Amino acid sequence: MRAKIIGTGSCLPDKIATNDYLSTIVDTNDEWIQSRTGIQERHLVSSEAENTLSMAVKAAQRALLDADVLPEQLDLILVATVSSDFITPSTACMIQKELNACHATAFDINAACSGFLFALNTVDAYFQTGIYQTALIIGVETLSKIINWSDRSTCVLFGDGAGAVVAKASEEGILASLQGSDGTKGDILICKNRTNNNPYITTETNPDFLFMNGQEVFKFAVTKEPECIQSLLNQAKINASEVDYYLLHQANYRIIASIARKLKLPLEKFPINVDHCGNTSAASIPILLDEVNKAGKLEEGSLLLLSGFGAGLTWGAVLLKW
Ligand code: UT7
Repeated sequence: MRAKIIGTGSCLPDKIATNDYLSTIVDTNDEWIQSRTGIQERHLVSSEAENTLSMAVKAAQRALLDADVLPEQLDLILVATVSSDFITPSTACMIQKELNACHATAFDINAACSGFLFALNTVDAYFQTGIYQTALIIGVETLSKIINWSDRSTCVLFGDGAGAVVAKASEEGILASLQGSDGTKGDILICKNRTNNNPYITTETNPDFLFMNGQEVFKFAVTKEPECIQSLLNQAKINASEVDYYLLHQANYRIIASIARKLKLPLEKFPINVDHCGNTSAASIPILLDEVNKAGKLEEGSLLLLSGFGAGLTWGAVLLKW
């Protein structure tokens, strides 16, 4: 049995920060941001009540409704995030409590922007072994809390949000998948956790923010992601043009356009939400999938290729039948 997605949902905070607004905070402008990234605006949490858990729960409830599945029917909840509200309990366990998904096992996965794909592959592996049959998979980020809002090279790029899917063990669904990691290049995109101040260690306790060597990440993305997609297509013996939609991690419009060029495919096959969401890391692919689904663009049997890359470094791709 393989994982078949049977429902989607998403949640974006109401507050929208435009490029013009950000140019009142840091030395930037709409022209630079749009021409280098394709981003026009992003959603940011704007109250204490809005956080990783609240967005994840809303996205999950919408996905469950779409799938016509009750929380108590779930036997697995996986959450991909690098921006949990708590170190422990996991966001997945907190969602389980909020939904009253009393029969589920719940845990988080940290694979940054590839996290949703890694979670989907993990669910698929569990379904193949027969251990679980019905799963809720969520990608959620409140990246605005780990961003340095005086660093123009990163603060204009990211946004907050959540996307969720419900997957069921079925004869057909995921057709093929690939994932990988290269920890040796981890230092080009990092965010340190809290420092240790135990009785033997005295460290500065300044909070650390996300640091990114943008050009190195860009080079990695435009090389690794098309390679990964091509390997997956070869593995599945499918021609690139047979895929109906490529749902790629939304980091930068130029990265997506470069991948489309390398695969010799029209941009119409590459739905975009980076323009209005910015980079929402683990949430970007499930939010995009929900937008495409709710826009009525998917039919039974549509072929979708989901792919992304991120900190770690990590990368992955999943080919599935809708
Ligand atoms: O999901 C995680 C993955 N992250 C990514 O995929 C990001 C990948 N990288 C990128 O998308 C691009 O590298 C960026 C969008 C981050 C940067 O674009 P770039 O074309 O590589 O610009 P750059 O870093 O080479 O900077 C060019 C110039 C610099 O000024 P000088 O040194 O040429 O005078 C920067 O200081 O642009 C300046 N700059 C800005 N100017 C206005 C950097 N950020 C800004 C800004 N507004 N926000």
